[in-house]
Amino acid sequence: MSTKNMVLKTLEQNRGKPVSGSMIAKKLNVSRGAVWKAIEALRDEGYKIEAVTNRGYILSEESDLLSKEGIFVNLKNSKIKGDQIYVFSSLDSTNQLAKKMAIDGAPHGTVVLADEQTKGRGRRGRSFYSPKGTGIYLSIILKTDNFADIGLLVTTAASVAVCRALAKIYGVEAKIKWVNDIYLNDRKLCGILTEAITNFETGTIDSIVLGIGLNFKTTDFPEELNQTATSLFSSDEEIKDKRNRLAAAIIDEVLDLCEDLNSEKFISEYKQRSMVIGKDISVYRGNDQFDAKAIDIDSQGGLVVLKQDGTVEVLNSGEITVRFGGLNEN
Ligand code: BTN
Repeated sequence: MSTKNMVLKTLEQNRGKPVSGSMIAKKLNVSRGAVWKAIEALRDEGYKIEAVTNRGYILSEESDLLSKEGIFVNLKNSKIKGDQIYVFSSLDSTNQLAKKMAIDGAPHGTVVLADEQTKGRGRRGRSFYSPKGTGIYLSIILKTDNFADIGLLVTTAASVAVCRALAKIYGVEAKIKWVNDIYLNDRKLCGILTEAITNFETGTIDSIVLGIGLNFKTTDFPEELNQTATSLFSSDEEIKDKRNRLAAAIIDEVLDLCEDLNSEKFISEYKQRSMVIGKDISVYRGNDQFDAKAIDIDSQGGLVVLKQDGTVEVLNSGEITVRFGGLNEN
């Protein structure tokens, strides 16, 4: 790790509190001049670092730059190493890069984040609006032997993980629209795109890339999203816990839940947070479209629906919209 990154890590560990230059120099076994140079380089990158006479350097609470150091100091999962977290200022798509890394052998728990995405991808070939500095765009590489059986559960677990992180840090109780859109006040806050990587030799899925896109403080949505999307915050002010903290909490919750996917314990939590159970919906599956009522979520994350001909079916794929008074809303 470079001196600059080690200085940033020390400041992140003490965010909002002063740390003396000599203490940092001693801890990192570098000269005070090297610490000063690192501080200057970090300021050039946009970090707000104050120098207080006789007390040292303070990384301002207001600083909201994404960094692996900032995420790492907030992670509870001790199995993740700092060098498994990759943060970029701009990428076409974090899922795209994470897929390449998974194929090249990146281990379970590798995380790719970007401050902006120029080609953020959504489900069904849609794009995901990912402007700079306002969102959390992250992809987590997951590895296991038996994804064939639990693919839908991973997606289901990811929705619960995001909701848990939001509740823990901000006390926000979000809802889930099957299968994995997170809603706040009836508007979409977060989307999840799960992509599988198949081993050509065995034909089995050996990795999953779980892509999560959350509008953290996005205020200027394009017109087509204006009526349907929302953001956790409307501006930079008064946000105590910034993006690094939420990103770390999401990573922690995802990895925790994915440790024991077969326990299905989170399914009851998923059901409690569901905004579709009991609602009239339209189902879109390939070229097929039909109306039904959503009645339950089964133990594998499938949506149980009552069709208009009175038969019950479990959906394991496809997309739904909720119908209000005959009109399709989301
Ligand atoms: C959807 O709402 O249809 C899913 C959106 C998923 C967006 C995330 S942002 C991080 C990751 N990288 C991508 O290109 N997409 C996912």
